[in-house]
Order: sequence, then C-alpha cells, then structure tokens
Amino acid sequence: MRVMIIGGTSGIGLALAGHYAQQGAALALCGRDPARLDGHPIAARAGLRRYGFDIGERQAVFDAVGDFAEEGLDLLIVTAGQYAGADALVRDRMCSLPMVRTNVSGLCHAFDAGAQAMLRNGRGQMVVVASIAGLLHEYPNGSLYSASKRAAIAISDAYRKALAPHGIDVTAVVPGYVDTQKLRDLNGGSAQRKPFLQTEEQAVRRIARAIAQRDAHCIFPWQLHAMVRLFNLLPKGLQRYRKK
Ligand SMILES: NC(=O)c1ccc[n+]([C@@H]2O[C@H](COP(=O)([O-])OP(=O)(O)OC[C@H]3O[C@@H](n4cnc5c(N)ncnc54)[C@H](OP(=O)(O)O)[C@@H]3O)[C@@H](O)[C@H]2O)c1
Repeated sequence: MRVMIIGGTSGIGLALAGHYAQQGAALALCGRDPARLDGHPIAARAGLRRYGFDIGERQAVFDAVGDFAEEGLDLLIVTAGQYAGADALVRDRMCSLPMVRTNVSGLCHAFDAGAQAMLRNGRGQMVVVASIAGLLHEYPNGSLYSASKRAAIAISDAYRKALAPHGIDVTAVVPGYVDTQKLRDLNGGSAQRKPFLQTEEQAVRRIARAIAQRDAHCIFPWQLHAMVRLFNLLPKGLQRYRKK
C-alpha cells in the first residue's frame, strides 16, 4: 500500500503515519518543513519519502504527488491545516489568506493532484481532516476557521460524488479536540480543559477504521457531535451568547 500524507510532519498526520508504517505501507510525508521529522523514529524508516512544499502552491503539490505516484498511490491523506482566531484577524490583516489558501485552495490542489494520479489506475482513496468546528453554525472565536472547515467538508462531498463512478473514494474526517502539540500551543500549553479531548492514539484508531471501511464521513467523538447538533438547534441569539 502506498500512502502519502500532506501534513504528515506533525500531530494527527504524523500519528497516522505511524499507523500506516506499522501496516508496512510505503510512505511519503509532506509539510512546508520536512526537516521537522529529523530525529523522529519514523525518519529512520527505510524508503520513507519526504516532500517539502506549501499546499497552497498548486504546481508544487502536483510535482510532489506526481513524483510519489509514479510507483502508485493508494491513499492520499490531507491533514495540512491552519487556525486563526477572531483576535488574530483583528491584529493581523494578512492572516486570513494563508488559512484559506491552506484549508480550502490547498485541499483542492491536493485532491486534483491525487485524482489525476488515481484515475490512471481507476482506484484509490482520498481523505481530508476537517474539523467538528465546521459543523457548528456559530463558532464565535474562530468563525473563519470554522467556515474553512465547513468548506473542506462540502468540497470533499463534491469530489466524492464526482470520483465515485471512477473507483475513487473520498472520506471527510471531522474530529473534535485531539491532544496534539499544536492544540496545546494554541491553548497556553495544555488542552486538558477541552471537552471530550481525544489522544492522538484514539484519533488514529477512529480515523484508520473509517478509512479502512471507506466511510464517507468520520465524525468523532460522538459526545461532542451530539453537543454540536443540540447547540445548532438553539435560537440564534442564544448561540451567539456563547463565548468560545
Ligand atoms: N488538533 C485538534 O484538536 C484538531 C481538531 C480538529 C481538526 N484538526 C485539524 O487536523 C489537522 C491537523 O491538526 P494538528 O493538530 O495535527 O496540527 P499540526 O500538528 O500543526 O499539523 C499540521 C500539519 O500540516 C502541515 N502544514 C500546515 N500548513 C501547511 C501548508 N500550507 N502546506 C503544507 N503543509 C502544511 C504542518 O507542517 P508545516 O508546518 O511544516 O508545514 C503539519 O505537518 C488540521 O487541519 C486541523 O485543523 C485538528
């Protein structure tokens, strides 16, 4: 099995890489700075390919995916993503663009490049890690992030419909809070107060199962999903009253 993970140099993507390494997959891990893998046990793995590019750069994505796919591509996972809260949008007028380029345009670049490679063989699977924030109608502190992840879910639905007749499956992973270093950094060093926090291992088990079953959507944990659905039913005024 040949697996490429864009966003595989840290967090959920790197944890998924560990899972597929154990399964004996040929792996390609990508991020803007692949040197981040230096010193990590997976870097010593025979045959590991690393690619450094910005997913917002369309040609760079096609070059890397095309290069790895020369020997086949069974699974393309996109975990590359960025977050900016409302405060960042106020402080820095330039911070919206990288997030939208990464979470939305970058996803299309990756899925287009992946589809081009997989259509040659008439089989394959593509996966995006979106966020449960994309299901929440009112997300006060991160509404642009939430909108970008809502777009990611909708975009993956569109690719699924287009590619299913050609033997290519598309899975949208919609996780709640996962205890990665990035989430800890965004929350002053600890994510322990986040509701229904999942460990990376729990997230990987859930995501890998959904990928193996070729599920269209993988939304977890169910408790947070239930809360989001209830919250969306509240009158708009009450939804906006919530702080974060
Ligand atoms: N952790 C959570 O609680 C949580 C919850 C819901 C959804 N998510 C989503 O899950 C994904 C992974 O989150 P994480 O916590 O594992 O974050 P992370 O550790 O920061 O991982 C992000 C990965 O994407 C790469 N990346 C970021 N921007 C990129 C770009 N423009 N081009 C290419 N690669 C890029 C990063 O490498 P470089 O920085 O070297 O490029 C890194 O490998 C994100 O999409 C996030 O929105 C996370």
